[in-house]
Amino acid sequence: MKKEVLRQSEFAGTVADEIVSAIGEVLTERERCSLCLSGGTTPGAVYRLLRIPPRVDDIEWGRLDLFWGDERFVPADDNRSNQHMVRDTLLHHLPPGQQPAVYPVCTEEASAEEAARAYETVLSDYGLSPEGEKVFDIVLLGIGEDGHTASLFPGQSRCFGGSSSGRLVIAAPHPTDGTDRISLTPAPLFSARRIYFLVSGEKKAEMVSRIFNERELSPDEVPAVHAREASGEVVWFLDRAAAGTL
Ligand code: 6PG
Repeated sequence: MKKEVLRQSEFAGTVADEIVSAIGEVLTERERCSLCLSGGTTPGAVYRLLRIPPRVDDIEWGRLDLFWGDERFVPADDNRSNQHMVRDTLLHHLPPGQQPAVYPVCTEEASAEEAARAYETVLSDYGLSPEGEKVFDIVLLGIGEDGHTASLFPGQSRCFGGSSSGRLVIAAPHPTDGTDRISLTPAPLFSARRIYFLVSGEKKAEMVSRIFNERELSPDEVPAVHAREASGEVVWFLDRAAAGTL
């Protein structure tokens, strides 16, 4: 796993440039680029930079397929919704003729489990089934102070029966606030060609240090550790506060 330690002032710009560059590389090789977006607060500054010149003009938005790594089981117009955050920070600001194909998690299903199953069908139909030939081109992720990533929380690996279960998407409650979450499992997330972690703030420093220094960490204890098994390129974009004493 590679890491790039950045000043806070250059964090969002550097990550945005890397995303523009990665999309461009994919589109020199393939007709379309699949980008799986992260929720939370950190990516917002990056998404805001992607929607304005010069970067907005450097992306062929009509050749992008956008997915979400996880979602909260709330209405799409709820401020807690990751879909709402991405529409608010990015999609609603793109030029009319420059719209990506968007595959959000449908949270109007009767339950989080049904929403997870429905999104699993979306991914399978896209070709991302376990035996499918497709993997995501780019996945963006964050981590929590507890080491969760997407909505894969510590001690919840039983929810998806481990990597061999064949599940692509699961539903699980947030361990503290109880909100039902829908999350992609490690299989579709960490089979991606490029995985970019966006981590900022000193509150993440201890967990970042553990992830990089404690070889015996288990993915069940710290789900972000699944990144160690990734076959694709993994880059941790860290601001100096999150990098701490690395
Ligand atoms: C979510 C994200 C979650 C997030 C981390 C970091 O839905 O909240 O998927 O995994 O990336 O919790 O969140 P911050 O960027 O807000 O610190």
